Amino acid sequence: MTVSSVVDVVVIGAGAAGLMCAATAAYQGHRVRVIDHANKAGKKILMSGGGRCNFTNLNTTPEHFVSANPHFCKSALKRYTPWHFLELVERHGVEHVEKAPGQLFCADSAKALLAVLLTECEWAGAEIQLDTGIRRVVRTDSGFELTTTRETVRCQSLVVACGGLSIPTMGASGFGYQLAEQFGLSVLPTRAGLVPFTLPPEHKAWLSELSGISTEVVAEAGKARFAEPMLITHRGLSGPAMLQVSSFWAPGTAVTVDWLPQLEDPLQVLIQERNAHPNRGLERWLRQYFSQRLSAALVEQFGWQGHLQQFSNDRLGGVAAVLKGWQFKPSGTEGYRTAEVTLGGVNTDGLSSRNFEVKTVPGLHFIGEVLDVTGQLGGFNFQWAWASGWCTGMAL
Ligand code: FDA
Repeated sequence: MTVSSVVDVVVIGAGAAGLMCAATAAYQGHRVRVIDHANKAGKKILMSGGGRCNFTNLNTTPEHFVSANPHFCKSALKRYTPWHFLELVERHGVEHVEKAPGQLFCADSAKALLAVLLTECEWAGAEIQLDTGIRRVVRTDSGFELTTTRETVRCQSLVVACGGLSIPTMGASGFGYQLAEQFGLSVLPTRAGLVPFTLPPEHKAWLSELSGISTEVVAEAGKARFAEPMLITHRGLSGPAMLQVSSFWAPGTAVTVDWLPQLEDPLQVLIQERNAHPNRGLERWLRQYFSQRLSAALVEQFGWQGHLQQFSNDRLGGVAAVLKGWQFKPSGTEGYRTAEVTLGGVNTDGLSSRNFEVKTVPGLHFIGEVLDVTGQLGGFNFQWAWASGWCTGMAL
């Protein structure tokens, strides 16, 4: 096959980071081509945030990211802030809403956000080539040569923006990790993050009956602690609280759930309740805080039947302990099939935190989720994609 194209920059991956980088680099006057094996650009943008894309978080700090090197993300996050991205979104007239403090979503549809990026690429003159697989990448005297399923492309700079492993049906692949290893970088072990937990049979049996119920909890795993809603599903436990702690959970360890974060000392409240209403059952008290179905299930599961007058202080202490610190050991997670992100990835030690260039391979850059930088839930992952994409685009 003869060389059929020469460009300045090839970006592999037409996702959030790749499109941002491509438009930014093309505005610098570079000839840029984005190559993606999927049939559509930005598929994850379209499915994100329940179809409305939580595109940034105004409160982004480096502490919202998990990485073996927590300092790596600082420079890019400082140089390209949520306010920069918001300015771009507003310039394109995209209506947005702040659903929770700092979390910005499209008011209507994530399509509007993808349109911003595609329009920017078009205006800047970046070309997007879809349905194109990459068979081989080699280094040349002046840069890189890519053999694709269509042709051979030469470029001076190569930006790898092919994301992580989550949602393989959306085009996710381990190609970025393969390229990293090919060029001498190490890849830290990957695992699914921001993902629902699956449960062992003894918990699944009672909780799956409650599928669809959501309740505010404080969940803890490792050193992480999140006050968010927990959603019970027919497969296990999900909702923001579980997704958040899943990124900090180590297989085989327990997750702790405080079902009653609004009560600091439920034992005292329970003792008062027993003294005031000795003939009532515990379920009636629980119904102040939980739905009828969940209250009944808690009573059944933990054997809390009977009138309150039958509850000694010790027994009420047991109730309070369960409600404030219920522990379960997940059997696992739903894995990459439903995970929002991939933890681990390309080791940032081998890269410049300013321009994302591989220290030992000039012209080669890695950006976005393929790196070992993973945001918490709430728009941080997209902010990382924009920031790493912009900083690299500006540096080319
Ligand atoms: P991204 O995955 O977006 O793009 C990678 C691109 O590379 C894809 O287009 C893919 O087809 C392409 N590619 C892969 N392998 C290739 C190969 N071998 N050859 C060519 N192309 C290849 N984050 C957030 O901040 N707010 C939110 O609301 C959500 N919501 C959300 C919901 C769901 C269901 C998921 C799965 C994820 C989220 N996220 C999120 C996370 C967010 O989507 C994610 O972190 C970013 O999309 C990462 O951007 P990247 O550009 O790095 O990868």
